[in-house]
Amino acid sequence: MKTDASRNLQQRFHSAIPGGAHTYAKGDDQFPESYAPYMVRGKGCRAWDADGNEFIEYGMGLRSVTLGHAYPSVVEAAYKQMLKGANFVRPNVIELECAEQFLGLIRGAEMVKFCKNGSDANNGALRLSRAFTGRNLVAICSEHPFLSVEDWFIGSTPMSAGIPRSVSASTVKFHYNDIPSVEKLFADYPGQIACVMLEPEKEVVPENRFLHAIQELCHRHGAVFILDEMITGFRWDNGGGQKYHDIVPDLSTFGKALGNGFSVSALAGKREIMLRGGLDHDKERVFLLSTTHGAETHSLAAAMETMRVYQTEPVVKCLWRQGTRLAEGISKTVKSLGLSNHFQLRGKPCCLVYATLDAESKPSQIFRTLFLQETMKRNLLIPSLVVSYSHGDEEIDRTIAGISEALVVYKKALEEGVEKYLVGRPVKPVFRKFN
Ligand SMILES: Cc1ncc(COP(=O)(O)O)c(C=O)c1O
Repeated sequence: MKTDASRNLQQRFHSAIPGGAHTYAKGDDQFPESYAPYMVRGKGCRAWDADGNEFIEYGMGLRSVTLGHAYPSVVEAAYKQMLKGANFVRPNVIELECAEQFLGLIRGAEMVKFCKNGSDANNGALRLSRAFTGRNLVAICSEHPFLSVEDWFIGSTPMSAGIPRSVSASTVKFHYNDIPSVEKLFADYPGQIACVMLEPEKEVVPENRFLHAIQELCHRHGAVFILDEMITGFRWDNGGGQKYHDIVPDLSTFGKALGNGFSVSALAGKREIMLRGGLDHDKERVFLLSTTHGAETHSLAAAMETMRVYQTEPVVKCLWRQGTRLAEGISKTVKSLGLSNHFQLRGKPCCLVYATLDAESKPSQIFRTLFLQETMKRNLLIPSLVVSYSHGDEEIDRTIAGISEALVVYKKALEEGVEKYLVGRPVKPVFRKFN
């Protein structure tokens, strides 16, 4: 594998951009030192780097590219719209068309407002909830790693520099599948919790109707119940994690899969709450999601075409099927190599991730780095195993074969010492206090 071009770009990236990337999750510290490729193009589930190396890629665009890179009908829809203009002084008709299409897919969503990223949508949900309830606190789930770039969330992580304590103090946490921890928050902060916000499901399945139980608590205590569907939306089901788990939240937020990589996100929910962001009420006005680029027409055209593909083709079914094929193939290898306590698959087939565990079966960033190193050598770019609609049987089978080879090295490293096989330093978690 050639690496010269990416190595040469590295210094320039770091000289121009703090951290060498516009998104921390894509940073050098998330990849092996021996190789952190810079990408130049993609097609379907394949991507090429600056050295011309071809990879089968997983979790593309931080899970936003669900159909595939440069998906022809989405590109065409966006391009056709670009020819008609990107932004106007009054709303474009496509803003209504896209809203109506979206509302037709998300059961229980009575109104929607579009924006450019998930953080804005969640921030809008929080502000709306605070205005609606007249309360201050937001309760979030400790096990859900990311909800927003805004201070109320980042202030609750170890990377809280620059955020006033008074802001961090407005965020309180509970544990997933732990209803007593939610009850305790309502008891400790009576009449103060504006909303509870969480993802419907991550790697752990909700037990004992956990989501319904939270919703019931929210309504008993007068708080807004919000589901973050950034990852589950259009992936678990066309109706999102809420449809999959048969629950209708007060508000929910979508992004990522909504536009197949184009920048578009949404805050949707009950009219009674959403209306506070509008003109038809006599309460204090809420400044709800209003940005210059919020309704950029070609991103909405991309979203409309992406949703049309979800509605007319078996996209979600394919994500589940290909994820299952992948999981079965990898599990077979893991079992035959005797690595079940050291390499594990987690999550639903449509959104598969992996855990790398050391010789003591403890989570290991060093073994994650080795796994990334060995799979990249085999032209696989797999920070996760999240499939897209473009991952065909051939690519899945090539991935299983490459992972099987990588796991042979992984096994040797467990037996003989990882330092013998790993080149350079291990990857590090994004949320850490110091470099
Ligand atoms: C669950 C969840 N919510 C919100 C966000 C924030 O979305 P964005 O990066 O589009 O602001 C993310 C981003 O990864 C996410 O995974």
